[in-house]
Amino acid sequence: MNSLRLIETKDGSHSLYNAELNETYHSIHGAIQESKHVFIENGLKYLIHHSQPKNISILEIGFGTGLNALLTALMVEERSLKIEYESVEAFPLSMATIAQLNYPDRFNSSEAKITFNAIHQTEWNKPQGISSNFNLLKRDLKIQDADLGEQKFDLVYFDAFAPDKQPEIWKLPILKKVADALNSNGIFVTYSAKGQLKRDLISLGLSVEKIPGPPGKREMIRAVKQ
Ligand SMILES: C[S@@+](CC[C@H](N)C(=O)[O-])C[C@H]1O[C@@H](n2cnc3c(N)ncnc32)[C@H](O)[C@@H]1O
Repeated sequence: MNSLRLIETKDGSHSLYNAELNETYHSIHGAIQESKHVFIENGLKYLIHHSQPKNISILEIGFGTGLNALLTALMVEERSLKIEYESVEAFPLSMATIAQLNYPDRFNSSEAKITFNAIHQTEWNKPQGISSNFNLLKRDLKIQDADLGEQKFDLVYFDAFAPDKQPEIWKLPILKKVADALNSNGIFVTYSAKGQLKRDLISLGLSVEKIPGPPGKREMIRAVKQ
């Protein structure tokens, strides 16, 4: 995609601007700050706190820059936890674009650089071990075409472009496919707080709460499959 431009967000971390959609990959108030708040704090840490699992399977919609995958891999490094991470991405970024991102430099560790490179250098569509406790499967296809299976995931990071930019991704058939792929008590988190999303998730049998969003966003949604 040549309509992408590198931008710096308010916390100093990079993001990408997609001119075709007039949309950024992350919040302009802080890319790392947003990913940590929405997916790590209110998704992964919430799950760990409530279920104390030894193994966690995560599904991400929209791999993009790999920031959520990096934060997840770094978070589990200090814990005796094993993560299976599957991510669906319709438009993988070029290595030239990825090389410009400053995410590894935002962490004071050589580990972050190694992990970031490993996440991006692994082949698509093939499960790969990134570390002893983080396995990654990047799937190069549209979520519309993906078979996600049933009751496979403990946690979903729903990180598509915003509902007003890409409404087709936030429609009931896709949400149903994602909800079917969740285990019972599985958790769905997203930065969006749209009322229609809340109603659709409830209609699919999830219990939904609106919780405080990251800086610049009042609320976000977390839902739990019953
Ligand atoms: C908000 S950005 C993702 C941010 C990403 N999680 C990150 O940390 O960089 C949305 C992503 O969804 C991808 N995408 C767009 N349409 C898609 C589709 N139909 N199926 C799967 N991914 C899609 C985009 O290419 C983009 O990478």
